[in-house]
Amino acid sequence: MKNIYRPIEAVLEDIITESPTIKTFVLRPKEPFEFRTGQFIELTLPGVGEAPFTPSSDPNLKDKIDVTIMNVGEVTALLHSSAKNISLGIRGPYGKGYPLDKFEGKDILIVGGGVGLAPLRSLLFSLFADIDKYNKVVLRYGARTANDIIYKEAIPHWAKKKKVDLVTTVDMGSPEWKGNVGLVTTILKDLPLDLKKAICVVCGPPIMMKFVTLKLLDLGFNPKDIYLSMEKNMSCGLGKCGHCRIGSYYICKDGPVFTYEQLKDLYDIWD
Ligand SMILES: Cc1cc2nc3c(=O)[nH]c(=O)nc-3n(C[C@H](O)[C@H](O)[C@H](O)COP(=O)(O)OP(=O)(O)OC[C@H]3O[C@@H](n4cnc5c(N)ncnc54)[C@H](O)[C@@H]3O)c2cc1C
Ligand code: FES
Repeated sequence: MKNIYRPIEAVLEDIITESPTIKTFVLRPKEPFEFRTGQFIELTLPGVGEAPFTPSSDPNLKDKIDVTIMNVGEVTALLHSSAKNISLGIRGPYGKGYPLDKFEGKDILIVGGGVGLAPLRSLLFSLFADIDKYNKVVLRYGARTANDIIYKEAIPHWAKKKKVDLVTTVDMGSPEWKGNVGLVTTILKDLPLDLKKAICVVCGPPIMMKFVTLKLLDLGFNPKDIYLSMEKNMSCGLGKCGHCRIGSYYICKDGPVFTYEQLKDLYDIWD
């Protein structure tokens, strides 16, 4: 019988520095590992612990997984100080991910904040691979400073892709930054979208998701068309321990992607 808690071994093949606090870890699993965009994995650092992360790589690749991780605490700090070629464990994938079938034929607004662009990169890979199925992809990304922007080399290439409209912003400007200055909500105006057939996907820190959601409702988005990627401290990742409960939902099993319609009447969803 398959042990659902048993991690697969993966070699840490490469480490890419994205910003002073964020790195992308390129993992080569020893067995093929499949996930759908928006699903998450539990990553184990042997002898230290495990933590949930959403792959940021192309879900069509079965032999390689990228995870883009911010250094915030014990597991992530040790990962950030790790060297290449060590063995890690991955288990999963868990959760439901993005319902791509519901996005077909639509204008897709994607709003990312900080390291929240990581799961969205995997979504972008999926959308780009089948771009004719979608009407357009409008990406709005905000970081604290120009230094904190992740995927700096990829962003200009994405901006030139067919059907893509991309704007980035930083909270604090600097002499070398020529783009928009202001929170991500400041670039959610004059959007090139047909609201009647648009959906929005949001991923970032809870406070950013809260204010982006309020702005989207103001713009006329329907709560059922706003997809939020929720985070909570997790343990089992499979709906058994109750750690990630929010109202009647388990983030790990029923999410981590929810529509605002599902969450709007629950207590303190942004904590
Ligand atoms: C479904 C899911 C997907 C995620 N994807 C990513 C990702 O792609 N990239 C990324 O950098 N992070 C992601 N996270 C957050 C990541 O899991 C936490 O940053 C990580 O667990 C922190 O572990 P730690 O041992 O380093 O920190 P700890 O020592 O446990 O804690 C350090 C600080 O981080 C806070 N924290 C701990 N766990 C979480 C958590 N799960 N959510 C929010 N705050 C937390 C603590 O309250 C504390 O303030 C995701 C979380 C979830 C639930
Ligand atoms: S993490 Fe255990 S129930 Fe969700």
